[in-house]
Amino acid sequence: MNLGVLISGRGSNMVALAQACARDDYPAQIAVVVSNQPGVAGLDKAAAMGLSTELIDHRDFPDRDAFEARLIELLQQHNVQLVCLAGFMRLLSRRFIEAFRDHILNIHPSLLPSFPGLRVHEQALEHGVRISGCTVHLVTEDLDAGPILLQAAVPVQQDDSVDALAARILEQEHQIYPEAVRLFVEGYLNPHGALSI
Ligand code: GAR
Repeated sequence: MNLGVLISGRGSNMVALAQACARDDYPAQIAVVVSNQPGVAGLDKAAAMGLSTELIDHRDFPDRDAFEARLIELLQQHNVQLVCLAGFMRLLSRRFIEAFRDHILNIHPSLLPSFPGLRVHEQALEHGVRISGCTVHLVTEDLDAGPILLQAAVPVQQDDSVDALAARILEQEHQIYPEAVRLFVEGYLNPHGALSI
């Protein structure tokens, strides 16, 4: 299955997906990595791994609709069948969701439905949760609220900083995202999030 990976920054989840895709027994390959932000580290990392990269700067378009129309067109040109959001920090509207209905995944650094949106680790520390983690879910029109596919739990330490918690969770993100994509591509996850193995 052809993946289109959308990024906005560092791209470490994109790298984890690319490393998984490089294995002989992995059922997907990255057709294109697209960033909406120029000059980000993720674009350099993707190019260094020999992946096809594209920049679609949302600021070059008059509105969200025009930006998404170009994004859809580009992903279709690369024959993308599954869109993987990997630190992609733009909201996607109904137009985009419809174009890839049930074939858009996202990784989020909390145990959803807790702490959707931004300032995720700050929220976790402010609430004093003892366990946080990460979630791979299907993307719907509702922010961070689509069906949950896979999660990993991570302990929160007594004196945790945002950076320390984020790093501990990121390690798990790099494990579960490639695994969720594999399960999805192999048909073990249905569009309602149920794991059928
Ligand atoms: C990751 O922690 C990812 O879960 C988060 O942004 C980071 C991107 O890192 N995504 C979100 O918060 C989306 N709501 P990366 O660019 O190194 O993969």
